[in-house]
Amino acid sequence: MKDKSQIYEAQIDELLSQLTLEEKIGMIHGNGLFRTKAVERLGIPRLVTSDGPMGVRMEFPDDSWYPINKSDDYVSYGPSNSALAATWNTELAYETGKVLGEEARGRGKDMILGPGINIKRDPLCGRNFEYMSEDPYLTQTMAVPYIKGVQENDVSACVKHYAVNNQETNRMAVDTLVDERTLREIYLPGFKAAVQEGGVYSLMDAYNKFRGKYCSESKELLDDILRDEWKYDGVVVSDWGAVHSTKETAETSLDLEMSVTYNFDEYFYANPLLEAVRNGEVSEESVDAKVRNILRLMFRLKMIGDKVDERKPGAYNTREHQDKILNTAREAIVLLRNEECTEGGKLLPLDQKKLVSRKTVNDLAADGAKVNRCHKIAVIGHNAEHLHAGGGGSAEIKALYEISPLMGLKMALGGNADISYAQGYYIPGKKSVNEVNWQEASLERQVMGQENPDSPEQIALRKEIAENRKKFLEEACALAKEADTVIFVGGLNHDYDVEGRDRADMKLPYGQDELIEELVKINPDTVVIMVAGSPVEMPWRDKVRGLIWCYYAGMETGTALTEILLGKVNPSGKLPETFPVVYEDTATYKNGQFGREDVVEYQEGIFVGYRHYEKEEIKPAYSFGYGLTYTDFTFDNLTLMSEMGGIVTVSVDVRNVGTMAGAEVVQCYVADCECSVERPVKELKAYSKVFLQPGECKTVTMTLNREAFAFYDVVSREFKVETGEFEIYVGTSSDKCEKMPVRVSL
Ligand code: BGC
Repeated sequence: MKDKSQIYEAQIDELLSQLTLEEKIGMIHGNGLFRTKAVERLGIPRLVTSDGPMGVRMEFPDDSWYPINKSDDYVSYGPSNSALAATWNTELAYETGKVLGEEARGRGKDMILGPGINIKRDPLCGRNFEYMSEDPYLTQTMAVPYIKGVQENDVSACVKHYAVNNQETNRMAVDTLVDERTLREIYLPGFKAAVQEGGVYSLMDAYNKFRGKYCSESKELLDDILRDEWKYDGVVVSDWGAVHSTKETAETSLDLEMSVTYNFDEYFYANPLLEAVRNGEVSEESVDAKVRNILRLMFRLKMIGDKVDERKPGAYNTREHQDKILNTAREAIVLLRNEECTEGGKLLPLDQKKLVSRKTVNDLAADGAKVNRCHKIAVIGHNAEHLHAGGGGSAEIKALYEISPLMGLKMALGGNADISYAQGYYIPGKKSVNEVNWQEASLERQVMGQENPDSPEQIALRKEIAENRKKFLEEACALAKEADTVIFVGGLNHDYDVEGRDRADMKLPYGQDELIEELVKINPDTVVIMVAGSPVEMPWRDKVRGLIWCYYAGMETGTALTEILLGKVNPSGKLPETFPVVYEDTATYKNGQFGREDVVEYQEGIFVGYRHYEKEEIKPAYSFGYGLTYTDFTFDNLTLMSEMGGIVTVSVDVRNVGTMAGAEVVQCYVADCECSVERPVKELKAYSKVFLQPGECKTVTMTLNREAFAFYDVVSREFKVETGEFEIYVGTSSDKCEKMPVRVSL
């Protein structure tokens, strides 16, 4: 680690020698839902943590999951990690981390529980919206600047959930079996980079088991890989309630036990550990090692030591944060389809002048009399006005504000626009399922509870849904018929993109498919906007002329979407994951190894995401790295320069040949033509986002180092490159590349 940690070690020794065993124990377990115990007599403060990736979570009392409900914990609501990854812009990852770190510090936190960087192994994982990508390279290159941005504020990032935590079904106990090569090539690179390149100060382990052992008890993950191989000297925090034993866990490198219950003295690392040390079952040195890591963190954060006065104060809800969040949202939105419309030319962007124009039409109701009326815009769909910040599980936050798509549109078009709204699809009201808060109950098996489909309540509910769905659909269609422009905003919400539960299928809920088909029949120029945290099947996608994808992009989502609709901003987002046509196309559907309760075998191995679709030659609906813009780019003069030592320099001239300024993501994939083990068709190994004015041309240069050509060799237990022929693919998405051969020699 590059950190100047050595300078603290003598002071840490000094403090350790003064701490009693009881005091040490108080520092290594939760003594409030989000904090540890202070040792006031030695000036050691409590360590205060908070969720979560999209902003700093609201305040909770120490011993209750019911928020305090004061007005001082509203915060800036930033992009979910999937939205951030869709920008393919590492500078924005840094800025997002910086905003989050500054807000966390402003709220008096020492550790922010993010980023979540688990790999999106299956589109149905309920927490995918919190994660970045199906690809380890994209994940690691976004996570590293993010972590640096957070930690610049004297706040610790806490990268999570280590490791192989890729489903919510039975998340507290499911055993994940993954072969060594897959572990090293797919599931660990993000964590390794977070430690070695990002210098992350804290890491959260995962609930699940790994190769038969709870992650909290896995010496393999925590000691052998994390501490010994990667030389991690930061803090390992348990996920909330992920510890299951005293001695076994205390003998791993897990430093801090946190949980969701209020019996703090009974935590495994509380009285039981005190006892175990007293009776010689666990050595005091193991406790010291944990306290040492926590003290080191406190020095790094300037919580103790001679730099306490220099600790940054942070700030929250600043205009600057809101601007940065807007900037990120602008780049996070992905244009999936833009076809010729009825009047000729591409459907998007919409013409703002037309949207607020008045026109003379025959008014049939008034015997053909001519009337002068506004252009009518129908905005249809619950996500047009639904606010998402307060949902999702531990990622929930109290956003200072959230601009919905409907509000964004109204704000931009003003009082001259005639905008009507219909919810379009019916969402049944939520019955209060739990008397207790979900997080409090989260250690129990089925957090969200499964209803019995044959119960009278469920039968009545289905009837209610069918009736209302019809009513809502008719209302929406009537509105669409009267309108000149129809904009549909649907997708998912945090009833689906949620912690603790995976989705049952990849279909759009609430009858949206039928509604979209109807709207497109009424107005073939209907613009469809999907706001969601994970892919859905879109069987109607080839029938719509304009399709925009928007992950949960934060408090300015509506502003950014409107700017894109109106062409004030040129879309430049790219999918950080593949959107299969149907769920049945996924590797995990085929092998049946997702969402199982007991053991999940990662039988697809390294063939996750596009690595699977390319190998099986399955054409997805939208491929990894895909996204359109309102301008056109050309790529010329692709050149490769290969040096000894396995370094290849790739360069290409990118020109904006359209009429609008915009950005393109130059993506570089590597394929190994001949190898002693099976390799993917190609793998992302470099990318660069380039911004160009109309007519402007820039040469983009990317360097591929040795790692870009390597695979994990299970025999030598290290990454290995075999000298020989490779192919370099350069393009604008994984399915639109030009390829060139190159010889790589070591
Ligand atoms: C989640 C973590 C979160 C923690 C604290 C757990 O349920 O898995 O991601 O940080 O709760 O709220």
